[in-house]
Amino acid sequence: MCGIIGFVGREQAAPVLLDGLARMEYRGYDSAGIAVRSEARGLQVRKTKGRLQALSDLVHGGADVEGTLGIGHTRWATHGEPSDVNAHPHVSESGNIALVHNGIIENYLEIKEFLLCHGVTFTSETDSEVVAQLLEFHYNECHNMLEAVGRVLRRIEGSYALGIICSDYPNALIAARKDSPLILGYGEMGNFIASDVTAIIKYTRDVVYMEDREIAVVTAEGVDVFTSDMTPVVKEHHQVDWDVTAAEKGGYPHFMFKEIMEQPEAIRRTISPRIREGRVVLDDVRFTAEDMEKFSRIFIVACGSSYHVGVVSKYNWQRLLRRSVEVELASEFRYSDPLVDEHTLVVVISQSGETLDTMAAMREAKRRGARTLAIVNVVGSSIAREADDVLYTWAGPEIAVATTKAYSTQLILMDLLGLYLADLLGTVEKAEYDSVLTQLQALPDQMQRFLDGFEDVKYFASRYFNHNSVFYIGRNLDYAMGLEGSLKLKEISYIHSEAYASGELKHGTISLIEPGTLVVALGTHEALFDKAMSNVVEVKARGAEVLALTTEPLRERMEKIADATIVVPRTHPILQPSLGVVALQLFAYYVALQRGCDIDKPRNLAKSVTVE
Ligand code: G6P
Repeated sequence: MCGIIGFVGREQAAPVLLDGLARMEYRGYDSAGIAVRSEARGLQVRKTKGRLQALSDLVHGGADVEGTLGIGHTRWATHGEPSDVNAHPHVSESGNIALVHNGIIENYLEIKEFLLCHGVTFTSETDSEVVAQLLEFHYNECHNMLEAVGRVLRRIEGSYALGIICSDYPNALIAARKDSPLILGYGEMGNFIASDVTAIIKYTRDVVYMEDREIAVVTAEGVDVFTSDMTPVVKEHHQVDWDVTAAEKGGYPHFMFKEIMEQPEAIRRTISPRIREGRVVLDDVRFTAEDMEKFSRIFIVACGSSYHVGVVSKYNWQRLLRRSVEVELASEFRYSDPLVDEHTLVVVISQSGETLDTMAAMREAKRRGARTLAIVNVVGSSIAREADDVLYTWAGPEIAVATTKAYSTQLILMDLLGLYLADLLGTVEKAEYDSVLTQLQALPDQMQRFLDGFEDVKYFASRYFNHNSVFYIGRNLDYAMGLEGSLKLKEISYIHSEAYASGELKHGTISLIEPGTLVVALGTHEALFDKAMSNVVEVKARGAEVLALTTEPLRERMEKIADATIVVPRTHPILQPSLGVVALQLFAYYVALQRGCDIDKPRNLAKSVTVE
């Protein structure tokens, strides 16, 4: 996601900032910028869309901007498409304050309206510029930078790591954080702020981790940290003990593993700005209950893992909306002469927003008069631009070819959207609505707890990695989850694998089960657990080795039949695939690791498929 670095010291800041930004390239970004201040030239801001090299060329490697204090940023768009103006740093109207921001300001529209009423002019579409302008607004009121920062922090909602410089406060960087990481670095040549240790590890290993709602004032001589009411805090120093090469992937061995581990945080970002006062609020969906009533058909259209999100959502939406929901592969839908007209809602799902078949399917639906709504991760991508409505997943950049956190955030967003639409239609009981919503908010922590200890998954991967063929079986949502689990395994480990609806086994697949065949039995869906178990017994009877996935309340019954059992936390049935799939991602990851595969770049696959 976005990266922040700030430096103040005895050397020129720009080369240090550019170097730090380059070390955070692994996080993915679409634009970058720096702001440097000197006595003679004041605040100099340079930013550009595209690669860091473009920024470096713009400032001739840093030679064009002068000063020993500055901030830098790599942006990955969330509000407003990637562009020069939307890139950070953002500058207040007077040009006095420059700011970089990671995170999402949830109430930015409300603050923007307030500032517009006070005559403030905005240049970008971002939530971050709102913070820079609000800071100037309060600074003009109190003429004290720290007091102004305090007022801003009391007013903004959401997540932030902020790096701020101000012409009237010429020797210091100001930093603040809430729900978005920020560290302080103590170096020989000066002091730092950074969102990521990798940015500054070349210069110092002596760091302090900022806590939520703390404010830091960083000068060349030292660092002062305060609580939100400006009480000084004594911070514990930590010595970073990794080396620079380990830092390239933020300390993780593969991007896929990093992205699996980022999932709790990613889904938190997807969820939290969209739940207010016990309701799902989707400001970006501009259709009404009347529009919704008028849709007699709903299609979900996508490719690959995004299609698998659609399969889960079909079950969930039918339950919530009491409407017929069809899920189609985009490559099939577009050529199927689909029954789509102005009474049809077509939801397309795409991480990249560039998949050609999904794009073409959406255009075909629009041509036939349908209303289109896109669930997309990459802001400003083609599908996002052309859809009638767009909801962003805010998963952050996904670099590994095999999707994990994008899948998870798509799924969560489809759950939110399902609840929202059901609410518009009045098809969901209040108790069910409240129960899903409450458990949705608890889900990131449950997922984190699972990710804090999955030694068993690792062990089972080492036990089963040399199988040549694997079958994933389950019913209903377990079947839908199995489609994704099976795809993950085949994508990165090159093991042949198939997912089947358990009820279909006897119609053919069971002939492939022989002694030793590995069957991954998915039994998390309580309503159909007994039926699913009878199918597990059938494959066991034919000699299959059964690795099961279930929840704690069902563990005992599952362990009586299966050879090995992975247990995930239990949640509302609608949400259960979101927890189960994480175990399947990890299983695929560790199997591929055992087999020595190129996990982040599997053979023949591409992250974004822009051809038919
Ligand atoms: C490729 C990727 C998959 C992805 C699919 C659809 O095959 O490797 O991970 O699910 O494309 O991509 P989209 O960007 O439209 O979600």
